Amino acid sequence: MSPQQQVWATFQDLYGRPPEILVRSPGRINLIGEHTDYNGGPVLPAAIDRAVWLAAAKRADTQCRLFACDYDEGYIVESQPSKPLVHPSWANYLLGVLVEIGWPGGLDLTFGGNLPIGAGVASSAAVQNAMALAANALFQLGHTQMDLVQLTHRAENQFVGVPCGIMDMFAGAMGRRNTFICLNCHSLEYEYLPFGTTELCFVLCHSGVERRLASSEYQKRRQECAQGLAILQRINPAMSALSQVSEDLLAEKEHLLPPTLFRRCRYVVTEIARVGTAVQALRSQDYAAMGSLMYLTHQGLRDDFEVSCPELNLLVEEAMHHPACLGARLMGAGFGGCTLNLVKKSKVCDFSAHVSQAYTRAFKRSLRHWTVHLDDGAEIVFFDV
Ligand code: GLA
Repeated sequence: MSPQQQVWATFQDLYGRPPEILVRSPGRINLIGEHTDYNGGPVLPAAIDRAVWLAAAKRADTQCRLFACDYDEGYIVESQPSKPLVHPSWANYLLGVLVEIGWPGGLDLTFGGNLPIGAGVASSAAVQNAMALAANALFQLGHTQMDLVQLTHRAENQFVGVPCGIMDMFAGAMGRRNTFICLNCHSLEYEYLPFGTTELCFVLCHSGVERRLASSEYQKRRQECAQGLAILQRINPAMSALSQVSEDLLAEKEHLLPPTLFRRCRYVVTEIARVGTAVQALRSQDYAAMGSLMYLTHQGLRDDFEVSCPELNLLVEEAMHHPACLGARLMGAGFGGCTLNLVKKSKVCDFSAHVSQAYTRAFKRSLRHWTVHLDDGAEIVFFDV
């Protein structure tokens, strides 16, 4: 049974009626532009062909009955919660969106999918996007797609309490098949850029490391960026984000910053410049140049931003040694999750075998890897009006 069929069938079994709506909501990759979104910089993500499906129907009362197929676990809530749950934590992604959207009414709901959880492919944003799209349609709330993106971002920041940027929700909601999105996270202006080759594809390799440190260290990196900016603002108070600091200005003011803060800022400022170069490479279909930029991003994330780990570093080094790989880097927040690899399609099996062997030799466990394609953003698959 496909995940979509499982979500539908579980809904029928649990609630004794068919759902009124079924939504598909994908995860994302990010080609380049890591830890730039909350610094007002650009990102270059795309939605992928792995997703969460969510089925729902309205109820006459205010009760919400939620069921996570992937955890085989349900949760019932009578009315709007005032704070996040300790358990089950997956319910917070749904409840946060419902709270942020104004708790429009009772619901029966099931969800599940084929998006790896905790792999850095934005599975939580996918759940939130699905919830927002379904509630907006079911209760005829009339929000635009962009309203929903901003609303799910607020839900994660305020209700769930994760201080993430807007990239994940945006990419999952606005993606298009075979296309990257160049998003300016300061102005929210965006442009679609085609991935214009059928000879290359993307492979995700899972480090196998649970991202346990991720939320506390992610918060720490955000604070370090804010501290660096605050010091630079003493020279120019008009700068409101690290995206407004040039590489030259930062080099000139190095003496004002403690070494760690300087390295954090150097990573962000050079990564923002790299996204600009990557956009040119994508436009001119220079994928060799794109791959080199990915390796540089990995170096920056490893040495200056310090969000890598031995497993991710080994995966990138082994990828670099394989002739079919054009570029590789850790993707997402870091501290675990996946590497993103740009690989010649005809050599994917050979590439995966090479990296898997090296990974197993080093860490005595097998590597999980997936080939992913760029796909459309979240959409309503079925709606019984
Ligand atoms: C996580 C966050 C995003 C972004 C990335 C790093 O995925 O949710 O907002 O900051 O990390 O680029």
